[in-house]
Amino acid sequence: MRKSSLPLAASFYIDYHNFFEEILGEILTDILIIGGGIIGLSLAIELKLRGAQVTILSSESHQAAATAAAGMLAPQAENIPPSPMLDLCLQSRALYPEWIGKLETITGLTTGYWPCGILSPVYEQPEVTYNKQLTLNSQWLDKDAIHQHQPGLSNEIIGGWWYPNDAQVDNRALFQTLQIAAKKLKIDISQERVEEIIRSGTKVLGVKTSSGELQANHYILATGAWSNQLLPVPVYPKKGQMLSVCPPPETPPIIQQLQMVLFGDESYIVPRKDGQIIIGATSENVNFTPGNTPWGIQALLSRAIRLYPELQHYLIQEFWWGFRPATPDELPILGYSAWDNLTLATGHYRNGILLAPVTAIMIADWIEQHKSDPLLSHFHYSRFADSGAPHH
Ligand code: GLY
Repeated sequence: MRKSSLPLAASFYIDYHNFFEEILGEILTDILIIGGGIIGLSLAIELKLRGAQVTILSSESHQAAATAAAGMLAPQAENIPPSPMLDLCLQSRALYPEWIGKLETITGLTTGYWPCGILSPVYEQPEVTYNKQLTLNSQWLDKDAIHQHQPGLSNEIIGGWWYPNDAQVDNRALFQTLQIAAKKLKIDISQERVEEIIRSGTKVLGVKTSSGELQANHYILATGAWSNQLLPVPVYPKKGQMLSVCPPPETPPIIQQLQMVLFGDESYIVPRKDGQIIIGATSENVNFTPGNTPWGIQALLSRAIRLYPELQHYLIQEFWWGFRPATPDELPILGYSAWDNLTLATGHYRNGILLAPVTAIMIADWIEQHKSDPLLSHFHYSRFADSGAPHH
């Protein structure tokens, strides 16, 4: 890491810079991002493209939500009620095509972004079949229409919602693309576990890692489900187990492929363009207990086969699990913290892949220009009564 060249003009950094140089010696980077998951990487790339000097500290975790997810971009199928959260999710979904285009241009890789729409079939007649979110594009399909729309659904399905604007991305391909983009942009990524965030009053003084201490002008906490191991933020792990299958080789191409995501009761089936099908996900409060369980896999398979019976003949490829960063109100924690030079970007729960582009832009605006999008005010840390956070 080099000495900061302070490419960000924000004057509030200058004071910290002088303060730290007096107390601790050299400032090593402008912005230190703790966490190399989808949020940390997306933010690092956004800030770097704006001219900042960025370093990521990442302790590799294969159970991070970025790789465990299915990559659904599903504000409508997830049934998020009209709220600032829905607005945030819709903004992010709209940013996706351009954001993906930028990442694919930087890296020359593909991410499997696919605006395939999401179908939400049901087994029982719902109370209302009119569009509850009038400004959003959705359509109720009756029994005949839904079976025509997606052949192969269970006979038990009596209808369902079609959300043509919901989409998907191959989250593993996206994660890899973000890692390569960060390397191409010469973002410093250090595989160091942060052991402590050193604080004094309302300032962060540095971070203690497995190999020493590091300082920066500004810090971002983006450690997902592991966030409260470093700071008292109400984020806890919600485990999700998943598996993937693929059609047997002799399947005729005509019936081979689902062409849209199926979002059922407590389960979803996400077909990738390459033929792989992801089946997810359990939702378990078991702390960081690792592993796949017979209960979890049985539940996933029975729900998925009930929804799309053809799956019972498919070949099992892989099982895995991960930890969603859940918060008490299931909303992310974004923006200022109780420490003047530390910003929070964590707690994205079920929607981290979807919210990556909007989080990167809004948090970069906040750090770079102290510009706070009005939507951000709904996601501040201070909403938790015992947060100890000042109200900015
Ligand atoms: N977004 C889907 C899940 O968290 O399982």
